[in-house]
Amino acid sequence: MNRQEIDALVKKMNVDNATGEVNTRVQEIVVRLLGDLFEAIVDLNITQNELWKGLEYIADLGQANEVGLLVPGLGLEHFMDLLEDAKDAQAGVEQGGTPRTIEGPLYVAGAPESVGFARMDDGAEEGIMDTLIIEGVVSDVDGNVLPNAKVEIWHANGQGNYSFFDKTQSEFNLRRTIYTDENGRYRALTTMPVGYGCPPDGPTQKLLTLLGRHGQRPSHVHYFITADGFRKLTTQFNIEGDEYLWDDFAFATREGLIATVADKSSPEDLAEYNLDKPFKYINFDFKLTKDTSTSPDTQVERRRAQG
Ligand code: DHB
Ligand code: FE
Repeated sequence: MNRQEIDALVKKMNVDNATGEVNTRVQEIVVRLLGDLFEAIVDLNITQNELWKGLEYIADLGQANEVGLLVPGLGLEHFMDLLEDAKDAQAGVEQGGTPRTIEGPLYVAGAPESVGFARMDDGAEEGIMDTLIIEGVVSDVDGNVLPNAKVEIWHANGQGNYSFFDKTQSEFNLRRTIYTDENGRYRALTTMPVGYGCPPDGPTQKLLTLLGRHGQRPSHVHYFITADGFRKLTTQFNIEGDEYLWDDFAFATREGLIATVADKSSPEDLAEYNLDKPFKYINFDFKLTKDTSTSPDTQVERRRAQG
C-alpha cells in the first residue's frame, strides 16, 4: 500500500463517515498521525505482535504515570524547546534572555511562598548533604532589575528524588516560591541536589535500555520565573562537574544554563549568609524577555501535580 492509498483509507474511515460535530484540529492531527503510523507499519513491516507490544507499552506507561518521563527521555520535550526558540527568532523576540529548557515531569504547584529568601530543605539531610546557597538577580535583557518577580524553584534531594513523588520526604521539601526583593534578588538556603535517575524498573527505563541508553540526569535545579510584562521562563541550571552534564538523558543541559559551585567558609561569608559551617554557593541570574503582542506565548498548559 502506498501513501495515497493509505491516506484514502484513513480518510474513508475517520473523515468521510463523520455524522456528528467535528473538531477539525483534532481531525487534522489524528488523520496525519494515523497516516504516518500506517505508512511506518508498511515500510518497516511491523508485525501484529510488534504492534500489540507497542500498544501495551503505551498502556503500561500511562499506568505507571511515566508519560511525562518518557517524553523528555526521547528528546521530544527538548525538540519542542528548539522549535520555540526558532519561533521566537522568527517573531523577533528580543535577544539576550536566559535560555529556556524543559520543565520535566516533577513540578508540584502550591509550594510555600516568601519574599527575598527561603529555606527550602526540611533538615532531613543535615550532616549528609552539603548546605547550598543559591542566589541571583532577575532582570530584563538590559539589566534593569525586576522586584516582585515570582521565582519558583524545585530540585531533588541527595538521593536524586523529588518530594511529593518520593513519599519519604516531607511536603514541599526542596520546593519554594520566592518573590524577588526590591533589588530583584532571590536567595535560597537548601541542600546540594544529586542527579536524577529514571525508576530502574519502570517502563521509561525499559525502553531506554532497549535503545542502549541510560536514564540519568546531571545534578540540576528547576525554575519557573514570572513577572508582569515579561514572558514566563521555564528553565533550569545544570551543575558543572557532574559526569552527566553533557550526557543528560533528557537533553536539558544547554549553553548559558550551567552553574558553577563555589566553596565558602570565610568568617565574612558565614556572617553574610548567617551560617555556622562551610557551604556551597551558586549564583544564578535570570534575564526575562518582554511580553509583546507578537511574542509567542511561553505558558504551557499541561497536567501538573498540586501539593
Ligand atoms: C525527568 C526527570 C527530571 O528530574 C527532569 O528534570 C527531567 C526529566 C524524567 O524523569 O524524565
Ligand atoms: Fe529534574
